[in-house]
Amino acid sequence: VVLVVDFGAQYAQLIARRVREARVYSEIVPSTMPVAEMLAKKPRAIILSGGPSSVYAEGAPRLDRAIFEAGVPVFGMCYGFQLMATTLGGTVDNTGSREYGRTPLKVTKTGSTLFEGTPAEQPVWMSHGDACSAAPEGFTVTAATDVVPVAAFENDEKKLYGVQHHPEVMHSTYGQQVLEHFLYRGAGIEPSWTTGNVIDEQIAAIREQVGSKRAICGLSGGVDSAVAAALVQKAIGAQLTCVYVDHGLMRKGETEQVEKDFVAATGVQLKVVDAQERFLTALAGVSDPEEKRKIIGREFIRVFEQAQAEIVAEGAAGGEDVAFLVQGTLYPDVVESGGGTGTANIKSHHNVGGLPDDLEFELIEPLRQLFKDEVRMVGQELGLPEEIVQRQPFPGPGLGIRIVGEVTRERLDLLREADAIAREELTAAGLDREIWQCPVVLLADVRSVGVQGDGRTYGHPIVLRPVSSEDAMTADWTRMPYEVLARISTRITNEVADVNRVVLDVTSKPPGTIEWE
Ligand code: XMP
Repeated sequence: VVLVVDFGAQYAQLIARRVREARVYSEIVPSTMPVAEMLAKKPRAIILSGGPSSVYAEGAPRLDRAIFEAGVPVFGMCYGFQLMATTLGGTVDNTGSREYGRTPLKVTKTGSTLFEGTPAEQPVWMSHGDACSAAPEGFTVTAATDVVPVAAFENDEKKLYGVQHHPEVMHSTYGQQVLEHFLYRGAGIEPSWTTGNVIDEQIAAIREQVGSKRAICGLSGGVDSAVAAALVQKAIGAQLTCVYVDHGLMRKGETEQVEKDFVAATGVQLKVVDAQERFLTALAGVSDPEEKRKIIGREFIRVFEQAQAEIVAEGAAGGEDVAFLVQGTLYPDVVESGGGTGTANIKSHHNVGGLPDDLEFELIEPLRQLFKDEVRMVGQELGLPEEIVQRQPFPGPGLGIRIVGEVTRERLDLLREADAIAREELTAAGLDREIWQCPVVLLADVRSVGVQGDGRTYGHPIVLRPVSSEDAMTADWTRMPYEVLARISTRITNEVADVNRVVLDVTSKPPGTIEWE
């Protein structure tokens, strides 16, 4: 394992992902973890992430010097670089000259371990106030910028490396190469980690965990629950039952996709609960977003519990209870919730509104080590259809939070049509991968005047919200081609009754969220 020491901000996750892209398994640890504990994990290498602090700030995170003396290769980036410099006797000045954004980096030493084979001048992403002016003794300076005399250094003998910039972000053009040079050349690690390893490992672990008992899994139609279910199905077969709650807030064709394609691909036992009436009744007259979310969450739990009771009752003949619940928890969730190994804490966003705390299940979380793109790869290897594996994110409360105003059957049908058209055109234009997701929102309480044929119309607007993102934490609106927007607009206004206007949401996140509610 390669450990990524997290000094805050959001860099550590990105670094861990890039390491795995280099086919080396990585894990994130907090910078507050004692060095002895880090070393006890027997890491093949350690990467120190960037962070928001200045090394001179009071309370800035530090590291025990022992981390540099254990014979484990270490790579410091940005804050990690400055920390390495100051800890080992180099000089970091609070110069006041900040460097932020894309900066030309000049490689000053040929044949360096990190920069070998990359251009003498290369664009990198900088984000710092302090600057290193002298490398620690025994280190060679390998790069500089116009502002920073020591922008990278290395001590090949001790296997210690550092760069001032952020190689993990895509704006650092040769960043991945630099990182791989550290892993392969600096630390001598063979790239061998694959998602195939994960599948074999997880299948064995699940079999051991479950024994002859039974497990249940809530399917949402999303990638995570589908891949988790497929993996558990592969491990324990008929001991798993999946429950799909059809709350009537799904997009066109989604329920069928789960009922047919998913079952066909996995052979999983599926219990579909048609709860459309129940949800519509509960949502009648409600237009407050939070209230809608709560109602949908609450109803979901009730339906799920009922289904579970039925499964237990059916299984009681065989004398076995359902003892396990499968969850599609991903690595970013694990990191964000403190990285604990606990089995109890079910986070609310994994399902519609979250499952209650008092469910008496032990959790099976086969995707706990993985990032989203890795989950997709696992899904692919398990033979899930492309439409499921490459599915864009869709919120648990579904179209219920994409109708601004009260949710009714007519409005759901209308939005489903508009959404299907938008998705069809985006797919036809080959934009599915480029766009993170494109919520289609119905402003049900707004009407505007239009003209169609020879007559005046007074219809609702539909909002298109195409966004680009890496992790949904931040997002930007996608600059997608006008022709595609025009086609979607024409088709929606022509084909969807009661819609006479299509508008484009050009807000980033922040300040807007991706969804409208
Ligand atoms: P926001 O709107 O907060 O959305 O910018 C961020 C991402 O989360 C999705 N989302 C949800 N997913 N249950 C989910 O499973 C929810 O209640 C929920 N609300 C938002 C949203 O689609 C986006 O990808």
